Amino acid sequence: MSVDTTHGSAVSRVAILTSGGDAPGMNAAIRTATMFLLSKGVEVVGIKRGYRGLMEERFRTLTLDKVSPILREGGTVLGSARCPEFHERATRDEARRILAARGIDGVLVIGGNGSLTGANLLGHPQEKGDQKLAVVGIPASIDNDIGLTSYAIGVDTAINTIVEACDKIADTASAFDRTFLIEVMGRACGYLAMTSAVASGADNVLFPETHTDPEALVETVVRTVKKVAMRQGERERHSLIIKAEGTSLSSSELKDAVDARLAAEEADIGTVVETRVTVLGHVVRGGRPSAFDRLLGSRFANVAVDALVRGVDRHMAAWMMPIAPPASVAVKSPVDP
Ligand code: F6P
Repeated sequence: MSVDTTHGSAVSRVAILTSGGDAPGMNAAIRTATMFLLSKGVEVVGIKRGYRGLMEERFRTLTLDKVSPILREGGTVLGSARCPEFHERATRDEARRILAARGIDGVLVIGGNGSLTGANLLGHPQEKGDQKLAVVGIPASIDNDIGLTSYAIGVDTAINTIVEACDKIADTASAFDRTFLIEVMGRACGYLAMTSAVASGADNVLFPETHTDPEALVETVVRTVKKVAMRQGERERHSLIIKAEGTSLSSSELKDAVDARLAAEEADIGTVVETRVTVLGHVVRGGRPSAFDRLLGSRFANVAVDALVRGVDRHMAAWMMPIAPPASVAVKSPVDP
């Protein structure tokens, strides 16, 4: 890897873009990355609406004034988009040409799986004679389905949003002894469903990693509902069941099938069980970032743009829990850059 550190930095003009599903904490990353780069004398431009905005040349200079207040805002101030054309080599070559014409020699991509795959390809391969382009990435997706990192920006806020919603739903569920099927985002990944189910004390959780057979899905819900509804004494008889959006039945199909089974087994259960469906949908993706996501976004940005400045490229910032146990339990908090 060749390192040109003229003026103390291997890059002189860096573009930042956010791409794919927005995630709370993206703004924290944009803010820290901009502040860090400006402090090193590097110019920073924001690209509006992800790779699509890159192709449409929607560039804006980022200054301290612009990024200072955005830490607590959800979504992304740069906007986002999905751009399937970026999978095509010709589109990426054109993107490299656009960036080179503007003197941009570094790019920071903040996004999920697809966006980071695009970033990897944008940085490589480069034709002989191409202007050098260093590309780094930051994992951001509420789904938490990005390899090589245990956490992505937005996941913590999304879990908190789901848990808060479940607490509210539990109030009304208990008033009527009802069963609620609560659908949460996550695409093909069950992480949000699994973690929020534990954190909200749900009675069961359905997710695509294990619940592939539609009949077994219905059976699981019916079994859970019967167990809860047939409780004796003063115990609660309402159920909360969290369902990941990627499971093999839609929430309405599942409700219909479960209702039919519960009606047929009403005598056995000894009571009528009413079911309701709440699809949390895009609510899960919005809102002010939690403190954890603000920190994670800031840390990722610090690591990613520090790498750019030092001449490292085609790397992704990642979060790993400490692997080695500390030498002593009484470890002082180290100075954190
Ligand atoms: O990847 C984030 C995510 O919110 C998924 O959980 C969800 O399946 C998808 O994006 C929704 O995409 P859109 O906002 O394009 O409908």
